[in-house]
Amino acid sequence: MSDHPLATRSGIPDELAYLRATYAREGWRTHANYGQLADFWLHVHDSLRGEGKALAQATADYREGQMDLAAYHRQFAPNLSHFLQHLNAHHQIEDRHYFPRFQALDPRMVAGFALLDRDHHLIHEALVASAESANRLIATFGGDNDDGRRAADDYAASADRLLALLMRHLADEEELVIPALLHHGERSVD
Ligand SMILES: [Fe+2]
Ligand SMILES: [Fe+2]
Repeated sequence: MSDHPLATRSGIPDELAYLRATYAREGWRTHANYGQLADFWLHVHDSLRGEGKALAQATADYREGQMDLAAYHRQFAPNLSHFLQHLNAHHQIEDRHYFPRFQALDPRMVAGFALLDRDHHLIHEALVASAESANRLIATFGGDNDDGRRAADDYAASADRLLALLMRHLADEEELVIPALLHHGERSVD
């Protein structure tokens, strides 16, 4: 998995994000073509960032003794389940509906959205690994403390990997999607 470019990427190249220079991030929200879809897209991404970071913070608090097991146990499974389902549903609508429509707008869009599609596969693998390590952690709740600590360490490592991949992907996707919506108009991907 580590040879996937997303794991080491520091951004997407200009030839794929060919509209990025014309539509700089600072001007997105004040552009005349900025509409509900772009706003919703950015809002969903911000929600995913917030949910992922909140989970990481709760796990860090628990591992550092700032949160007791009962409090961690109470919120961990529902919050994780919400985050993973939200992420999975978002990727599914992108893969099935939006990405093919962006690719149909201009042949130069094809490679960039194929890259984002490949990101989704890697993120899905990381998501499954994270969910599996979360299940191992949940199984230790109420049991031996050493087992619990080891399981929490393993879970934190897998969750950190998922979050790092997701943060890179969200930022890169925005630089393809939002300039395309501003350039072609939101109706073009209905
Ligand atoms: Fe995506
Ligand atoms: Fe997205």
